[in-house]
Amino acid sequence: MKTLGVILSCVVLAQADIYLHNPRGSNNRLDGEGRDVRNNARLYDSQNNNRGGYNVGNLYYYEGTKLSIEWTNQHTCADQNAHCELVLQYMCDDKIRDGTTTTTIPDRHDRCENFDCNTDMKFGMQEDFDYYLNCRTRERNKGLFIADRNLNRNDARRTRQNNNGQRRGYECPEEKDYYPYWHPTPWKDIAVMTNDEERCQYYKTESANVKSRWACVIPREILMERYLRNIIVPNNAEDCAEFEYEGEKVGRWTEFPAHNLPAPDCRLAPWSRDNHNGNGIGGYFNTYDWVIPEGIAHERCILRMRYNISTDDYDPWNTDASSNENDEVEGSTIDYSERFGFANEAAARNRGYIFQNNPTVQIFPDLGVNLALAINTAQFGRTFQDRSHVFAIRERPDELKGVTIHNLNVRGKRGNNQQVYPAVEYDYVPNTLEINTNDYIHIQWTGSNRNPRNNAGNGLAGTDRNNLVMLRNKNYPEGTPGAAFGGLDVVGQWGNNYPMHLTNVSDLTGASMELLQSLALLTPTQYGGEMSQLDDAGTYFDTGPLQFSKAGVLNFMCTRNNAFTNRSQKGRIITRDAPAK
Ligand SMILES: *[C@@H]1O[C@H](CO)[C@@H](O)[C@H](O)[C@H]1NC(C)=O
Ligand SMILES: *[C@@H]1O[C@H](CO)[C@@H](O)[C@H](O)[C@H]1NC(C)=O
Ligand SMILES: *[C@@H]1O[C@H](CO)[C@@H](O)[C@H](O)[C@H]1NC(C)=O
Repeated sequence: MKTLGVILSCVVLAQADIYLHNPRGSNNRLDGEGRDVRNNARLYDSQNNNRGGYNVGNLYYYEGTKLSIEWTNQHTCADQNAHCELVLQYMCDDKIRDGTTTTTIPDRHDRCENFDCNTDMKFGMQEDFDYYLNCRTRERNKGLFIADRNLNRNDARRTRQNNNGQRRGYECPEEKDYYPYWHPTPWKDIAVMTNDEERCQYYKTESANVKSRWACVIPREILMERYLRNIIVPNNAEDCAEFEYEGEKVGRWTEFPAHNLPAPDCRLAPWSRDNHNGNGIGGYFNTYDWVIPEGIAHERCILRMRYNISTDDYDPWNTDASSNENDEVEGSTIDYSERFGFANEAAARNRGYIFQNNPTVQIFPDLGVNLALAINTAQFGRTFQDRSHVFAIRERPDELKGVTIHNLNVRGKRGNNQQVYPAVEYDYVPNTLEINTNDYIHIQWTGSNRNPRNNAGNGLAGTDRNNLVMLRNKNYPEGTPGAAFGGLDVVGQWGNNYPMHLTNVSDLTGASMELLQSLALLTPTQYGGEMSQLDDAGTYFDTGPLQFSKAGVLNFMCTRNNAFTNRSQKGRIITRDAPAK
């Protein structure tokens, strides 16, 4: 029974995406109007369904503020079905850009403007040309377990999961598949969420935040001259010292310092359910509250989230190249005899118990019937990812130094849930924001004017718009007022779909009338216009950090998108008296 359970759990693991919802995950989209992403190799290898992702839209966040990163992953985390590692990283660089075309940036400098892909602004770029140049010319790590995959060539573009060496943007496939990566990486670690907290010590000490990396550096001119002719630069000190080019030793084994940042946060992954793209405990998507570090202000940053799942069909952290298929042994040399209770390895292999692609097993030897298993050695141990579009991290103005600031944003895109899936419908993020009276809220959202034209929604076809108005108070004086919120005064109720119009709404909420009008009518960003459906406004709106409310509970909605039976866009801020100092 146990064996069968293990096998069945494998079969469902063919597709297991991850989607970032806040900040908006691109899934390689730029601004296509189609339901599918136009080019799923534009910037990175997501391994996701082509329907995922949000069109470009950019926000900025202040240093030291709390950003609620919200995502869905398709399979379990923190459960027995799979090992699961969620790795959150960011990077900032002047060269990073979203680009203006959905075409992948070329991998040859002579196909870019001025022979320089790093500065050809029409192409989206995250990792840069030189990073990819190093990857494509670097010897791959030959110690890795590749099972029965034929990698054809020996550079770092080839891995068990990417054996044909396919390129997506300037991502390095070997780096994408392995973490912590052993060569220099521009990615800075935020957090690792894992099934096995015992690995945390390892992540914290090996992170490039705290530990330097080494690489074999050879003059760039040589690389530029030879990269199309498959030069392979060693990946270790000994071979680097001996590496010759035209009779000269040109390799210098060089240390690349750590990013000099605190070690990443590491914790148990939040639980999620298999095949349910998102259900966490309590019915809300899982989130990670990132406190954006001080001192990293930059106008061009991106966030990256990887979702790495592997099954228990082999011991993924202790299986290396010595288990690869060889001339004598088919599939891999992993011996299943003990694990499955066969007399010896030959007996296990005879019955098809081999870690290889689609083995056929004989469960009942007397019947002589084989059953095929959907095992894919490239995907048992597979990394998915999503990344944000460009965002800015800004230094706080002097008057906001030292205060707590929460980001309040909007996620989702236009359409009904079937049209947008596996992206999601609109919601405020966080949906319920809990703060103290001393805290600030930075309200900001963006969207696209180029969603599929026939996606359901109100206002101009294809467009995202948002606003925020207080909901009407509850209809009946049922129960004890505010009981559900620990006795706090409550303004508005989610059960309603009409806004509050009271002349004392400003007193009730603690927000100025000017701010309430601005949130409803998007002033002063928008000055007048036909605003019944917010159509004349743009996708972007920003209040800057402000103190919104007094102690109490505010329930609000978006007038345009909240359409009771079709979809709801309602949010809540719970403000408590700040604890006495
Ligand atoms: C994914 O997990 C495998 C073990 O299954 C590990 O070798 C690899 O480094 C991990 N990669 C990432 C990106 O977490
Ligand atoms: C606000 O106005 C409403 C209607 O005028 C009134 O019932 C309510 O008591 C007022 N609330 C406060 C706190 O003044
Ligand atoms: C739901 O959407 C449809 C199509 O846009 C619209 O006709 C209908 O009025 C909406 N229903 C509600 C309750 O908003």
